This record gives sequence, structure tokens and C-alpha cells, in this order.
Amino acid sequence: MADQAFVTLATNDNYARGAMVLGKSLRSHKTSRKLVALIGPHVSDPARKVLHKIFDEVRLVDVLDSGDSAHLAMLKRPDLGVTFTKLHCWTLTHYSKCVFMDADTMVVSNVDELFDREELSAAPDPGWPDCFNSGVFVFRPSKDTYEKLLKFCTEHGSFDGGDQGVLNSFFSNWATADISKHLPFIYNLSSIAIYTYLPAFKQYGGNAKVVHFLGKTKPWSYTYDTKARRVRGDIQESSSHPAFLLRWWELYSQTVLPLLFEAYGDQPFHSGCVEGENGDGMSLSHHAMPMISSEERKLRWEQGQADYMGMDSFENIQKKLDSFLK
Ligand code: UDP
Ligand code: GLC
Ligand code: MN
Repeated sequence: MADQAFVTLATNDNYARGAMVLGKSLRSHKTSRKLVALIGPHVSDPARKVLHKIFDEVRLVDVLDSGDSAHLAMLKRPDLGVTFTKLHCWTLTHYSKCVFMDADTMVVSNVDELFDREELSAAPDPGWPDCFNSGVFVFRPSKDTYEKLLKFCTEHGSFDGGDQGVLNSFFSNWATADISKHLPFIYNLSSIAIYTYLPAFKQYGGNAKVVHFLGKTKPWSYTYDTKARRVRGDIQESSSHPAFLLRWWELYSQTVLPLLFEAYGDQPFHSGCVEGENGDGMSLSHHAMPMISSEERKLRWEQGQADYMGMDSFENIQKKLDSFLK
């Protein structure tokens, strides 16, 4: 087991905070595997210090960028070209098998059984289920695969401008070849599923093992009131179930923040936490949605940013369905 590891990636301090919470969530559920964080040169020294406390290995890698603005614009995520950096995970050849997890994921139970699976195992992408989502996947580090992947990138690029497009084209028989490589959706549960198939979420959501805060708005985009134990912020759209979001912030404020305070010492830093202030924005449970055009709303839906607490709440969806069924 010493030659198996969970691997994540952070190219900046925001994603590094996500990686810290992910690492702590894996530790708190007593994983028996090693933890590895790949980081880019822009991750600050104090953040590196904290990562070293949580991860067994923190490895500095070059940032690879697809530079593919056309495809990234289609995905509406201009920031995701750097996810090509993820491909470095195949260079970790001192491990025989690894599980990659995005820095915006968090485990809610032990998931060591993932190591029983083979390369390339992953869960379906909620947007196009014949593609796998590259936020959680099982792989075997190999210099040969790494080189083939880089070659593939230069020759074919990526249909979404990020790693997920490349990986799906490279492991192109995933959808049809071997069902054991299809991870159950509970290993990569993104909130978009709550809105696209609410009854299924109600039936199976309680079995979630890995939560993925997929989409533009991340847990660290909000503010957390440590006293009221509430998530606050200028909430205009949401990309996660409130209970999971709260769990992320609890883990962050209780287990990561003390390490950040220690690492930063007298230096000020953005903790993301406030204490009992009325502050800006509104609390998650009472936020109001500004009026947006139906076009803009449709766009947000397509990006996985449903306003589940407001206009797209279950009650409203139900009303709409009822009106169709009448
Ligand atoms: N990532 C990073 N820096 C960035 C963007 C992404 O380190 O500026 C890494 C990080 O591990 C992140 C993953 O790449 O979780 C994929 O990006 P993201 O999670 O934002 O994509 P999404 O899952 O929302 O499509
Ligand atoms: C996806 C995945 C993410 C990946 C991105 C770019 O939505 O969740 O892990 O980096 O697409 O391809
Ligand atoms: Mn992600």
C-alpha cells in the first residue's frame, strides 16, 4: 500500500486551500494510502508549508497550459487551460497505482476501495455520460503513458481545452469496453445531478462518498461565519449542495485554518472566515437572487450553476413540472 497514493493538483493558493481540505478529508476517513500534492510555482511559501503538513509528498511541477482559448470559451471556463498540468500525475512512477482527485473534491467516507480498480476508471460526466469526468480517476503512473499523452495533446489538442477532453479522446474506449472501469456516480457526485435528476439524488445522494464542487463557483468563493456556522457571501449562483458546502467549510475552519495561521505567523492572509459579523452579502439560507434574463439563467444551468436556493429550487422545479403535467 505504500506504493499507492491519492494525488491532487493546485497551481495557486485558492486551489491549494481546496487541496488542503481534500487531504484532511482523506486523513479524517483514515486512508491507508499516501497523499501527494502536485503544485505550480505560484503557490506561496506558507501554503506549501501547510501542504507539507497534510500530504506525504508535495511535488513542484511545470504548469502546462493548453492555451486553447477557443475551446475553453465554449466551455465558458477560460481558466481551465492549466488543467493540462494534471497530466504530470503519470510521472509519479514511484507509485504503482494512484487515484487522482481534483482540488475541489472532498471525501465523505473512506474510498480506499478505489485502488481495486484499474486504469482508467472514472465516473460518468453528468453533462455527457459517455465521457468520464476527470475530477476523480484511477490510473497507473507510467513514463510511456505520459509521453504518449503529451504527444496526443500536441497532435490532437483537447476538444474542451482542458484535461478532460484529452483524457477522454486518449482513453476513448472507456464508455464501451469494460464496465468495471465505470465508477459509481457516488464517487464523483456533483450538484448538477441534484437538479437534473432530483428523485435519484434523494434516493442515492445519502450514499455519496466523494463530493465534487464542479463549476465556476468553488467553496472558497464564499465566506464562512465561524460563530453562526453559516456560509455567506455575495451569492448569485451556487454550485453545491448546502450541506456539503457547510461540511467543506467546517473542515477548513477547524482543521486547515489553524495550520494556515501557524504558517503565516504575523503576515496577513485571506482566511475566508468572519466571526459573527453582519458583513457583506447574505447567509446561504436567506439569499436573494437578483433578477436575471431567462437567457442568462439558461446559460448558468448549462454551466452547472443552478440557483438551487432560489429560482431553481426544488419547489419551483416541481411547480413547473406540475404545470406541464396538467
Ligand atoms: N486547477 C488548478 N488551478 C487552476 C485551475 C484548476 O490547480 O487555476 C486544478 C485543480 O486541481 C482543479 C482541477 O485542476 O480542481 C480542475 O479544475 P476545476 O476543478 O476548476 O474544474 P471543474 O471541475 O470545475 O470543471
Ligand atoms: C471538467 C472536470 C475537470 C477538468 C475540466 C477541464 O469539468 O471536472 O476536472 O479539469 O473539465 O477539462
Ligand atoms: Mn473540479
